[in-house]
Amino acid sequence: MRIDVLTLFPEMFGGVFHTSMLGRAEAKGILEFHTHDIREYSANKHHNTDDYAFGGGAGMVMMAQPVFDCMEAVLGGGKARRILMTPRGRTLTPELARELAGEERIVILAGHYEGLDERIQELIDDEISIGDYVLTGGELPAMVLVDCLSRFIPGVLGCSESAEDESFSNDGLLEYPQYTRPADFRGRLVPEVLLNGNHAEINKWRRQQSLLKTLRMRPELLEKAELTKDDIKFLEQQGYSKR
Ligand code: ADE
Repeated sequence: MRIDVLTLFPEMFGGVFHTSMLGRAEAKGILEFHTHDIREYSANKHHNTDDYAFGGGAGMVMMAQPVFDCMEAVLGGGKARRILMTPRGRTLTPELARELAGEERIVILAGHYEGLDERIQELIDDEISIGDYVLTGGELPAMVLVDCLSRFIPGVLGCSESAEDESFSNDGLLEYPQYTRPADFRGRLVPEVLLNGNHAEINKWRRQQSLLKTLRMRPELLEKAELTKDDIKFLEQQGYSKR
């Protein structure tokens, strides 16, 4: 997959795109990253990319011209799914990330300032938010989106099942706790059940731990989770009652 990012701060992306799992995916040729500095496309002699809002009001607005020219140059007449990162977009979910992971090419516009000239919408297929809070710009959200969707691209993760086995794919429950050696760390012991090699017991314990974690941290997820009769019985013993 080829990923292009249009941004005023291309230098923010290096560390994220070229290290760890994303860096490895890039080295393997699974992902290809390109960042583009919108400012370089400004036709203005001061290379401005923002201006005052028509109608007044506080804050600057990102101008259409540099974004249009940058997008047109990057696409070069080719096709791509064009995404704007904005808190006004639809919220990123694993389903959306998986869908985007199937694209051959995506172009992400990281917005800045108080907003974008509305005419930029014409360039965009999807508006995506990473959550109901406002960041100073779309760069971190763009990195979050790329990291999240890349996990659904075959070969990016070490083991192809890992993306399925975690919180939000685990029948809609949060992940159970994990431990590694030593079994005794400063007197804090690993639960006995994990040490005895009885896999039926271990699976039961893990399931119950997932249920407990979800009940405590995100009880609303239980409404949509795939629960067995045993799960419901266990949850009821913990004080859960289905609405
Ligand atoms: N830009 C600023 N805040 C954002 C958010 N929450 N999601 C996507 N883009 C943003």
